[in-house]
Amino acid sequence: MKRYFVLLLAMAALHTSQARERQCFDADWRFILADSTQMANADYNDSHWRKLSLPHDWAIEGDFYAGNPSGAGGGALPGGVGWYRKEFSIPQTPSIDSGTSYFVEFDGVYMNSTVYVNGQQVGFRPYGYSSFEYDITKYLKKGENVIAVRVDNSDQPNSRWYSGCGIYRHVWLTQTDHTHVAHWGTYVTSTLSKNNKTATFNVMVEVANRTKDTRITNILLDAGGKEVARTNGSALKVKNPRLWTLDNPYIYKVRTEIRVGEKIVDVYETNTGVRSFRFDPKAGFSLNSVPVKINGVCEHHDFGCLGAALNEDALHRKLVKLKAMGVNAIRSSHNPPAPELLNMCDTMGLIVMDESFDMWRRKKTKNDYARFFDEWHERDLSDLVKRDRNHPCIVMWSIGNEVLEQWSSADADELTLEQANLILNAGHDASTLAHGEEMTPNALLTQHLANIVKRYDKTRPITAGCNEPDPKNHLFKSGAIDIIGFNYHHQWIKDVPKNFPNKPFLMTESVSALQTRGYYIMPSDSIIVAPKEWWMPYTDPSFMCSAYDNMHASWSSTHEQTWDVVKHTPYVSGQFIWTGFDYIGEPTPYGFPARSSYFGIIDLAGFPKDIYYMYQSEWTQKPVLHLFPHWNWMPGQEIDMWCYYNNADEVELYVNGKSQGVRRKADGHVYHVSWRVKYEPGEVKVIARKAAVKNGYPEIVATQTIKTAGQPDHLRLTTDYQGKTTTFVNVEVVDKDGNLCPWAEDQVFFETSGGLEIVGVDNGSQFSMERFKDTKRKAFKGKCMVAVNGKGELKARTFGMKETTHIIK
Ligand code: GAL
Repeated sequence: MKRYFVLLLAMAALHTSQARERQCFDADWRFILADSTQMANADYNDSHWRKLSLPHDWAIEGDFYAGNPSGAGGGALPGGVGWYRKEFSIPQTPSIDSGTSYFVEFDGVYMNSTVYVNGQQVGFRPYGYSSFEYDITKYLKKGENVIAVRVDNSDQPNSRWYSGCGIYRHVWLTQTDHTHVAHWGTYVTSTLSKNNKTATFNVMVEVANRTKDTRITNILLDAGGKEVARTNGSALKVKNPRLWTLDNPYIYKVRTEIRVGEKIVDVYETNTGVRSFRFDPKAGFSLNSVPVKINGVCEHHDFGCLGAALNEDALHRKLVKLKAMGVNAIRSSHNPPAPELLNMCDTMGLIVMDESFDMWRRKKTKNDYARFFDEWHERDLSDLVKRDRNHPCIVMWSIGNEVLEQWSSADADELTLEQANLILNAGHDASTLAHGEEMTPNALLTQHLANIVKRYDKTRPITAGCNEPDPKNHLFKSGAIDIIGFNYHHQWIKDVPKNFPNKPFLMTESVSALQTRGYYIMPSDSIIVAPKEWWMPYTDPSFMCSAYDNMHASWSSTHEQTWDVVKHTPYVSGQFIWTGFDYIGEPTPYGFPARSSYFGIIDLAGFPKDIYYMYQSEWTQKPVLHLFPHWNWMPGQEIDMWCYYNNADEVELYVNGKSQGVRRKADGHVYHVSWRVKYEPGEVKVIARKAAVKNGYPEIVATQTIKTAGQPDHLRLTTDYQGKTTTFVNVEVVDKDGNLCPWAEDQVFFETSGGLEIVGVDNGSQFSMERFKDTKRKAFKGKCMVAVNGKGELKARTFGMKETTHIIK
């Protein structure tokens, strides 16, 4: 009897503390790439549909094809209409009387999703990057239920990059008491006292179905989960707070308890952090009063061969590689990111510019979001801010990227996707800018969007990625842009203080240099502008771009050119380079069969291009010595050898032991050194030295040798990144001594055993027509990559070489 009583008590405790249950709803869906209205019906027979787990992207499973309506700009992969269905069971009939509510939450569905529960339509959401939740309580019954989702990405093109297709982010099922914290219903802000001695967290809570005897308690927990403050009001004070910094991003948690009478009916947790920041018109950005240059990158949301389907391991791998390069900021270009990106930036110490739209009312591609803007912008923008405003990593909101409303008339409506991409930075007739003091409709629209953001968060400034650096840009004219942000036009930066007195400034987007890993166009000191003008085609049958920093588009610059201005101009808060990683789609300067971008500092497979080390040498304290290119050329050929280095005063190059001269980065404006040398087989070696003399000689701090590779002999497999589920394995074709064969293009075949599953293959080539979902891949410039799920044995084989086994433990 006593034991029974204890059990009852335990169950009661369980009931109160588990009032909210949020479960991942990703497993056991069925999918078909077809369309029929019948598919919504509860009793529809879907037994022949494919079984899968979310997140899922059906486009990445397809073949590249010139005729796919997304075009090369969208990645030349298929679109279409797909359906997802899932059965799930509910233990009791939910109703207002039983006091239980059920919600289904989608982090992102690209695009035009319609959700049905038991055959009844619950909702429609066009924007593929918004997160949304439906209250499905009234549609449910006790026992088995069916949810069906129609996803329509058939009207193409609708994006200037690869969007992916399907339920590509997580889905959640949440069960709550009738009285509960509303969706995204907490808002935590914090202020610091002088000298950072005390932090005050202010917690606003929105409760759904509040009753007269509903009470709210907010509890502040430190990173170890220990209670540090509690209130039945909204203010939580903590002495000697730990700040959120880039090196130590300390996370507090607010636990909100909702009581009705004595019963706890909901417990809701919100992560938060305390930091101060400032964008200063003269001094740029500072975090917690420490000046910080924003060394950021723009990122699209795809994961190369894994497509748009959210994979936390792939996302973490990206951020780890970027952080190791010295990146301290991410711009979620040009749309709301996955919630997981923000969680990771919170805990890894990366600041974020959270962006909403790539277009407003004026479209950039035929079927893009512009057609939904009037009806949906208020909802989509509000939802973005409500969802994300508690993240300490976010320091600014962007209300748009290169929207055509910058000008009174923008003629891109009738252009093709490629032309629209190119024309934006081409410069516009002054008559299309704002004149006089009167607010133009476009300036009013800017104010309206800024007001929506401020309605939900006043703690962060608003910016927008503009192309038009003239203060008569309608967006700037509105007065609603807190941080003047423009893309490219680094030559206009000198005029910013004159044009925008007392306004902070940021390069919201920069560089757009063009590179293919491992491909070098010489002479390296001649700059290739591709295309020369936005309307001129650029052709080269190689479909490659040069990995010396000597190639960029007409509106853009080399990496070094822009970094030089950003570095030496104190009022530039920083920049967001286009882009950190290559992404699928937008293969400027080429068209099909090129189908992924050339802009990345890291290629699509995850291999850094050489320029990665220029940034690492400038942005980190890590010792860097990076000599390139490889040493396999035609005898007698003139080769430009480049070197990025830091922590040394000089570098000297040797070809087969013969000095080719000493080089020094003469002043603060030089970022690489180079030698023009005659190729002869053997080795090339660089020695980095400090001026300080040790044992009678300048002190050697680092050396690097590159040898001429012999015939391909075997494959070298190394784990590039191992996540919880997905491991990325790099494959290199090497000679018998282990030297990389830089021209190798061997076909590599993979086999797995022991529960290991291949989920993607890539080699970073921007024009390969090979499938991403396959068990084989050609090496490109000596390398390829395979992504596997699980643990077990991976075998790599190729013609005429020994096979290699790699174990994932
Ligand atoms: C910018 C645009 C980006 C990308 C980039 C390529 O104008 O904001 O989305 O298209 O150009 O250089």
